Amino acid sequence: MSERRQPFVAGNWKCHTTLAEATRLADDIKRRIGRLRTVEMGVIPPFPFIERVASRLAGEAIQVGAQDIYAKGSGAYTGAVSGAMLKSVGADFVLVGHSERRLIFGDNDAVVSAKLQAALNSGLQVILCIGERLEERDAGEAASACQTQLAAALQDIPKQALQNVTIAYEPVWAIGTGRVASPSQAQEIHFVIRTWITGHYDSDVAASTRIQYGGSVKPDNISGLILQPDVDGALVGGASLDADSFSAIVTASIDSSAEADSARNRF
Ligand code: PGA
Repeated sequence: MSERRQPFVAGNWKCHTTLAEATRLADDIKRRIGRLRTVEMGVIPPFPFIERVASRLAGEAIQVGAQDIYAKGSGAYTGAVSGAMLKSVGADFVLVGHSERRLIFGDNDAVVSAKLQAALNSGLQVILCIGERLEERDAGEAASACQTQLAAALQDIPKQALQNVTIAYEPVWAIGTGRVASPSQAQEIHFVIRTWITGHYDSDVAASTRIQYGGSVKPDNISGLILQPDVDGALVGGASLDADSFSAIVTASIDSSAEADSARNRF
């Protein structure tokens, strides 16, 4: 009998919301899905709202994440936010390598790797985002682009630390575009990622690592994605700003993964 990884669905609020809106969104999400236990959930507000959101979600099964981290810790780094700061305001995890950080803010592979190390050293869990650009997909290089990003980010990460890392496969062409990857396109790359983890760590680590899909996830397309054997949840942008749609995505992730389980166990 295959054992299903618990789905993990996280909502990245990006550079949206005011303090009042973030508080309301956290409260609305809590009311709808705070008591669910068969799925892991997270929200990722902008830095200034982490503490408020974490205090509103205290005692709930919804984790709070940060959207970025500075790799060097405290010091004369104007504008930067360290892992220790994030921990101290109640963050449980941090996004590293999001394509908007890579493309808009210039986070290259070395920066992503340093941020990943810093986050783990600070005791934060990590969602490591990887994904190919449209030109890479069109050139038939989607898998190799993802493998290159994985190799660079995880080069110094030992096996036991990987249990604190979730991978998010986010094809850049699907982010914020409404053009979601098809379930089979997602599954193909998720399988490549899991195979890469098997090769560089081992099959136990690969079997327990969660791989989220991200890029235009909505309530009406999550079920087909989560039914794929190597899709273990979602990293949701736009649809996570609405409590109803985020809750619907979370709920569908549980239903569909239960369905996938029972289908597998029938054979
Ligand atoms: P989207 O964003 O759901 O709005 O496409 C996903 C992400 O950037 O994580």
